[in-house]
Amino acid sequence: MYKKILVPLDGSERARKALSHAVELAAKLAAKITLMHVVPSLPPYVNTAVDRLGQAQQAIVEELMKNGQELLDQYISMFSGNNIAVDTFIVMGQPADEILEKARAENYDLIILGSRGLGEIKGYLMGSVSNRVSRHASCPVLIIR
Ligand SMILES: Nc1ncnc2c1ncn2[C@@H]1O[C@H](COP(=O)(O)OP(=O)(O)O)[C@@H](O)[C@H]1O
Ligand SMILES: [Mg+2]
Repeated sequence: MYKKILVPLDGSERARKALSHAVELAAKLAAKITLMHVVPSLPPYVNTAVDRLGQAQQAIVEELMKNGQELLDQYISMFSGNNIAVDTFIVMGQPADEILEKARAENYDLIILGSRGLGEIKGYLMGSVSNRVSRHASCPVLIIR
């Protein structure tokens, strides 16, 4: 039933917990997992700034992408000892939009993510990414609290 599972990860404990659920499920269902990280776009004013800032921005973007890839690579260790097919995907953009687009364009049939992430705001059950993804996804969504 669920053969392609998308697991968006932001480095938070809740997302890691979501991944452990995904790994158990994928092992039972012989599903394939994609670990996805979205580097949030920089604020627009940075893009229109003078050249000097343009260069600094390029360096920051490269560093953020590298950091994101390292983050995803660390999770691969959770797959040792089973033979689940896993790959990683990293992109820059608005996290919820990128997750929704990836799931739709590549026909994922389940998204598993945390209810909250790295966000600071306390007191809400859901963060903005989990909220938007659950409302607009093209496939079922499993939200881990
Ligand atoms: N930049 C991101 N890249 C990939 N996944 C993300 C990203 N941000 C959030 N997520 C996913 O969405 C879940 C909920 O995070 P979010 O809605 O941002 O809550 P919060 O407001 O607490 O940060 C996370 O546990 C993670 O699974
Ligand atoms: Mg967040």
